[in-house]
Amino acid sequence: MRKLAITTTAVAAVALLALAGCSSRSADDSGSGDAKGFDKGSLIGVALPDKTSENWVLAGGLFKSAIEEAGFKADVQYAGQSTPVPDQQAQIASMSTKGAKVIIIGAKDGGQLGTQVKDAKAAGATVIAYDRILTDTKDIDYYVAFNNEKVGELQGQALLDGLKAKFPDKKSYNIELFSGDPGDANAPVFFQGAMKILQPKIDDGTLKVVSGQTDIKQTATKDWLAQNAQNRMDTILQGSYQSTELDGVLSPNDTLARAILTSVKSAGKPAIVVTGQDSEAASIPLIMSGEQYMTIYKDTRDLVKKAIEMTTQLSKGDKADTTTKTNNGSVDVPTFYLPPVVVTKDNAAEAYKNNPDLEKLTQQ
Ligand code: BGC
Repeated sequence: MRKLAITTTAVAAVALLALAGCSSRSADDSGSGDAKGFDKGSLIGVALPDKTSENWVLAGGLFKSAIEEAGFKADVQYAGQSTPVPDQQAQIASMSTKGAKVIIIGAKDGGQLGTQVKDAKAAGATVIAYDRILTDTKDIDYYVAFNNEKVGELQGQALLDGLKAKFPDKKSYNIELFSGDPGDANAPVFFQGAMKILQPKIDDGTLKVVSGQTDIKQTATKDWLAQNAQNRMDTILQGSYQSTELDGVLSPNDTLARAILTSVKSAGKPAIVVTGQDSEAASIPLIMSGEQYMTIYKDTRDLVKKAIEMTTQLSKGDKADTTTKTNNGSVDVPTFYLPPVVVTKDNAAEAYKNNPDLEKLTQQ
């Protein structure tokens, strides 16, 4: 009787999934990641995007040494700035041809590598998405990242907290919203995370986006380029803030936060509350002086270390450890998330205690 009930439920669940046009398959049902393992000395490929922020600059060197320390051969490549997508496509194809056992990808555009990862899988490689997920492909075995939605939530909450602290007498605040590059799968996740916190406050009138630009298509910053954010901020200040005060800006990362601050300063506007992400060396002094309200600490050393731990597990013929799954539009990808840490002037010294290069910047 009991067995029948379970079976009926299972059948109903399958029928429901079929109706919804969904697949219950997950990336690791394909048998990936549980292969025979591979020898020390094998080639590990790492394809990184163009160097749009310090985390990517750091990742290349860290990957090379971590791969070699783990006993493998490293092929670490960056996409160039002028043709990043074709660069990455060619680099990944070449890694497959050279017989890389694992290909770790920080995608410039996670929706444009489908053919390359399909070929990589066919050639016997395991594909790990690093920091940015690959979308709409089933040819992805693992994803390792800091929890991106959480990053957005922390930014949204910090913007609210910062506004209350800086303008204790105001009941409502004028803000503007920025998001990252549309090709980066993280950009909408950061934005949606932040909007989870900010939208109810926009709805109840606590926050006002004076430009009216709240759609991600309007807030996007092509290629994560500082110049693009600065130009957009200039235009918004011109158009909407001639006789209105701007109180705060949601910026998705530190590079763009500094560009936004430059724009606000050159327009002769008073100081604002601006968010950030990455704990870039150039932003930490601004956080200590109060010019940039907050950042997020996502220690690149930890993320690279985790990706190489996964690689070592795979080399032994084991599955890599994961903590959750992330749907990429095609499959549920086994995922390992690390926790992002919010940093303001108040906890910076403490937050960077394990990182002397950053900690010393809090003391100047
Ligand atoms: C990363 C951020 C970074 C941004 C721009 C994102 O995918 O998660 O840390 O600021 O890319 O490079």
